[in-house]
Amino acid sequence: MGIPIKNNILWVGKVDWELRKFHGEEYSTHKGTSYNSYLVREEKTALIETVWAPFAREYVKNLQKIIDLNTIDYIIANHGEIDHSGALPELMRHIPETPVYCTANAVKSLKGQYHQDWNFVVVKNGDRLSLGNKELIFIEAPMLHWPDSMFCYLTGDNVLFSTDAFGQHLATERLFNDLVDQSELFQECIKYYANILTPFSSFVDRKIREFASLNLPLDMICTSHGVVWRDKPMQIVAKYLEWSANYQENQITIMYDSMWDATRKMAEAIAHGIAEEDHTVLVKIFNIARSDKNDIVTEVFKSKAILVGSPTINKGVLSAVAGILEEIRGLGFKNKKAAAFGAYGWSGESVKMITERLKEGGFSIVNDGMKMLWNPDKEGEGGCIAFGRNFLKAVNDLQVS
Ligand code: FEO
Repeated sequence: MGIPIKNNILWVGKVDWELRKFHGEEYSTHKGTSYNSYLVREEKTALIETVWAPFAREYVKNLQKIIDLNTIDYIIANHGEIDHSGALPELMRHIPETPVYCTANAVKSLKGQYHQDWNFVVVKNGDRLSLGNKELIFIEAPMLHWPDSMFCYLTGDNVLFSTDAFGQHLATERLFNDLVDQSELFQECIKYYANILTPFSSFVDRKIREFASLNLPLDMICTSHGVVWRDKPMQIVAKYLEWSANYQENQITIMYDSMWDATRKMAEAIAHGIAEEDHTVLVKIFNIARSDKNDIVTEVFKSKAILVGSPTINKGVLSAVAGILEEIRGLGFKNKKAAAFGAYGWSGESVKMITERLKEGGFSIVNDGMKMLWNPDKEGEGGCIAFGRNFLKAVNDLQVS
């Protein structure tokens, strides 16, 4: 078994249709995922990446149906994270002496996780490994998205094995990018970038430009999750360049949580105000507690500005709001504007606290936000509409240094 990719390259990975949460509970995978592993059978045979640990036995058994494991000359570990290296312990039980090619940082991450002294061969940027008539060229790609990450490029076939980069969590039996639903594909790609690669955008940009300067022909990109880019592979590279350059669309995202609907009413009235001011701006509203946080993060990624709302509770904010604020602080979005809003009954600290958190997260704060005592009446709603209008004007006027 296995799926032919090109000439002597075979996909030998695992499609995980069931997965709904990845990185523990951190990342939602509405469409499942795949762990892509590739067998390259030239004069020498190389196995690139493995699969996640729960599928280790299945993976090795499947591999044994395809090849005598003892004929694998090289194992290439492009990245030490467990979703790609998880089957290594099971595989190495069968072929303990087979060399594992990886970066110096991957030796640390693999040893740190599996506590095994495998036959590691450390490779550096530009090193080559001959498979006979073709070669693998190693391209270190630190922080795409771990310090240990690297790509490798197969000469002759012109295929880039890019580990997580250019991947997406999409389970499919149609392995190639031209065969799947395009809107689903690109939604999963942008979600992956927004939630995982945003903090490393400068590394993404630099690595793509460095790779381009090598002038290597590119026929395919084989990622470690989701589809193989065989049709116009540069299209996803172009998207990555766009996304890594402080990406934004003409969108404002409003997110909030609410106890008794006052903050929800504020959110909706503010949205009306923005739409009244300029109906070409796309406004999206999310109740944080009832929405998927990774989907919200994807919308933040696409936004030029955000508004975050919470009522005041125990001199603070609702826990769902605190959670998403921590998430977006860590991602370090750039070139985005923000303000806070929220209802209160007596002390009313929430707006100030949200504003502080947004500031820490690198957002340019547009104004002091909007507090509303108790539930908005007609006049209160009018105030929120005016706030929305003024927010948009300020977003358009404020120059980010
Ligand atoms: Fe898909 Fe960073 O592992």
